[in-house]
This record gives sequence, C-alpha cells and structure tokens, in this order.
Amino acid sequence: MADLTSNFVGIKSPNPFWLASAPPTDKKYNVERAFEAGWGGVVWKTLGEAGPPVVNVNGPRYGAIWGADRRLAGLNNIELITDRDLEINLREMKEVKQNWPDRALVASLMVPCEEEPWKRILDRVLETGCDGVELNFGCPHGMSERGMGAAVGQVPEYIQMVVEWCKQHSNLPVITKLTPNITDVRHPARAAKNGGTDAVSLINTINSIVSIDLDLMAPTPTIDGKGTHGGYCGPAVKPIALNMVGEIARDPLTAGLPISGIGGITTWRDAAEYIALGCGNVQVCTAAMTYGFKIVEEMIEGLSNYMDEKGYKTIEDFRGMAVPNVTDWQYLNLNYITKAKIDQDLCISCGRCHIACEDTSHQAITNMVDGARKFEVIDEECVGCNLCVNVCPIDNCITMEEMTTGSDPRTQKPIDRDYANWTTHPNNPMAAIEPAE
Ligand SMILES: Cc1cc2nc3c(=O)[nH]c(=O)nc-3n(C[C@H](O)[C@H](O)[C@H](O)COP(=O)(O)O)c2cc1C
Ligand code: SF4
Ligand code: SF4
Repeated sequence: MADLTSNFVGIKSPNPFWLASAPPTDKKYNVERAFEAGWGGVVWKTLGEAGPPVVNVNGPRYGAIWGADRRLAGLNNIELITDRDLEINLREMKEVKQNWPDRALVASLMVPCEEEPWKRILDRVLETGCDGVELNFGCPHGMSERGMGAAVGQVPEYIQMVVEWCKQHSNLPVITKLTPNITDVRHPARAAKNGGTDAVSLINTINSIVSIDLDLMAPTPTIDGKGTHGGYCGPAVKPIALNMVGEIARDPLTAGLPISGIGGITTWRDAAEYIALGCGNVQVCTAAMTYGFKIVEEMIEGLSNYMDEKGYKTIEDFRGMAVPNVTDWQYLNLNYITKAKIDQDLCISCGRCHIACEDTSHQAITNMVDGARKFEVIDEECVGCNLCVNVCPIDNCITMEEMTTGSDPRTQKPIDRDYANWTTHPNNPMAAIEPAE
C-alpha cells in the first residue's frame, strides 16, 4: 500500500491533503472535525493584527457559477481575513496542535507591510506551537484596499522584503502564498525565493464578478443594491492554477522551490495532477465547502489506489514527473499528425460534432452518408484539432488517432516520424537563428 505521508518543508503530515486558509479552518471546532475526517493538515484562516477584529458584510458573501446539473463550477467570495479575535484564534490553535500533534498546523498571516507588525505577529504565533507560517499576499478584495494581501503580492519587491523580515524574525518554515492577479506569476515567486522563502503556495482567489443581477442591475452577491469584485475559486480555476504552478516549476530561477498546490482540487485526480506538476502537497477549500470534510476519504483512497496501480511507493516517486513535458509552443512536434475517429457503435447521432466542425472548424464531419444520417470524419479535411472530441457528449466516442505511416490525406505530405518544431520550420523567418531544443 502506498505511503501517503508528507514532509513539506519539514512539516510532517499523514497525507498531503491540507485544508487551505478559509472558513473551514476558521476555528477549533471546524479544524478538529476536519482532522477527525482525515485531513493531513490545515492552514488556519488568515490572522491579522491584534486590535478590533475585522468586520465582514452581514449579507451574502458568495456568488457562484454552476454546470448544467447545478454542480458548483466556480465560487466567488467577498469575505475578509478572520473576523474573530486574535487571542481566541491563538488559544484555539495552541489547543488544536496539542490535541493533534501528528497533523500539520500552519498559521496564515496578513498584517500591514511594516517590519514591526510582522515581527509582533510572528512572536505571537510561535507561542501556539504551529508548524509554519503562510504569508497571505493573495486576498484580492477588502484587504488589498488597505495595503495588504494582493496589494503587496503584486509588487515583487514588497514580497521579498516581507519574506526577509519573516525569515529574520522567526525560525518557522515560511510558505509564501501568491496571488494569481498578476501578469507573470514567476516574478513574485522569484521574489519570494530571493527573500528566502521555504516554499510558495498558489493560487489564492482570482478577481472576479460572477454575474450581474439584471433586475437589480448590480453584481452578485449584492449587498443593499451594490456589489463588488470578489475572489474566484473552485473547479473553474484549476486550469489557471495548474498553469501558474507549471510556470514556477519549470522556471530555472525557481526550479526546486517547494510548491503547495491550491485551486479547484476536488478529487484525488486533481491532487495527483498538481503533484505531477511538482507540488509537494495540496490545499483544498471550495471542495470542502461544497461537499463537507469527508471528501478527504475519497481523496486519500483514490490517490493511494492510483499510486499502487502505478507502483509509486511515495509521493516523491511521481512528484514533478510532468514538469519536463511542459514546454513552449515552439517546441511542439509539428510532425505529429492525428485524425479524429468516430466509433459508430457508441455514436448516438446527436450531430454536435458535425455542427461544431462544419460551422467553426474544418468541415470535416459528415451528417449524411448515402442519403442516411451518419457522422463520419473526412480525413482529407480533418486538421486533428480535437474540437469534436470536446463537444461530443459520449465518452470515448470520438478519439484522436495518430497517423504513423503513409501520407496525410489533407496535405498529401508523407508522414515523417522525426521530431521537427517551429524553431526549424521553413516558414519561420527566425528559423536560422533560433536554437532547436
Ligand atoms: C470564503 C473564502 C475565504 C477565503 N479566505 C482566505 C483567507 O483568509 N486567507 C487565504 O490565504 N485564502 C483565503 N481563501 C482562498 C483559499 O485559501 C484558496 O486559496 C482558494 O479558495 C483556492 O482554492 P479552492 O479552489 O480549493 O477553493 C478563501 C477562499 C474562500 C472561498
Ligand atoms: S478534429 Fe477538428 S477538424 Fe477533425 S473532425 Fe474533429 S473538429 Fe473537425
Ligand atoms: S457528437 Fe458524438 S455522439 Fe454526437 S454525432 Fe458526433 S460522434 Fe456521434
């Protein structure tokens, strides 16, 4: 049986599934129930400075988008950092750590961008016995207007400075949580590394307005007739998060920097994908908020079964295996030729593939053959784009088949099995000077 234990920057947990800093980790009651359900660790809901607690809105704080079956696809929130008193949070964190010594407990922090407040809060969280700190440079709303969260996370120099303070004033491992609300995530990641961070975690939520209420003429969630942008998360953000994780994992300037993967993780497979892209562990928020703490059971079982099937004994056995296969477009093999193929036994003749290809692609799928309704790929027109596969409602009904011999009926060119990319392509005016990889 696979060994799921995790050692992320020296923080040990029985499995790599942590709850991300958010409502599920806002209090002892939640966290202890999460640990009972099997979560390997938690990043406590972000703590702020001592003083009057943060004030949240008292109306709706969530918006959402759903799939056709009303399953939650994306969640948007306008919540701030913890609105509970700092002392209560610290006391509860200490109790939880004492009660659950084998679980990871990380304190998420967000205080004004000055050395003293950071030093003060670090001294306080140290007393809880927590295993590390996560610096919240990500919150996109409410706190950034006060010069914290994403406001800091969008300025690499500030990130580096705050990380340096934290490393200087604490011996705890420092995880720097990055905001996705930036053009190139490699810059804040490099800054965090230069500041001496032990790891980065990403992503925090994405700036968003999920919908406009057309009766109220205001964004949702609506508070007394007005709305504001919120932070987007859940399954819909996973592709964005994976790309950002991949960018950091393959950047030579941050290669090897431990990464905690966050964003839309709902199943063991999502988690495995993050690990394959280099993450040492994963954090989950929306899935727990949607389905409850027990989803971790399926995550643990699914990941364990997958690893057993593949013969991976530990997380490290497959961590980062996909990183070398993430490349730039120019290095993709232009000699790799595929054609769509429709399994006539599975086809229910809905016609979606025909319409998609006919109206928007390459007119490469029939709807009538010999006077009868039939959907067949016309190899002479098919460019192998894969659109039909994605619109077909039946799994595996359309597959992409690689051509390995003969010639491509569309271009009439013989199939060449040798790898050739854009850097050497005759149509590339830069071909002579760009090095092939
Ligand atoms: C209601 C809500 C509150 C959140 N509060 C925090 C927070 O206090 N600190 C923080 O670092 N991230 C916060 N997050 C972001 C999550 O930790 C996580 O980065 C994000 O939701 C993406 O993960 P997910 O797709 O699994 O939800 C919050 C998210 C939600 C939905
Ligand atoms: S792969 Fe693209 S071009 Fe080929 S049949 Fe499908 S949609 Fe048409
Ligand atoms: S979309 Fe799929 S099921 Fe529908 S006609 Fe095309 S191949 Fe058949």
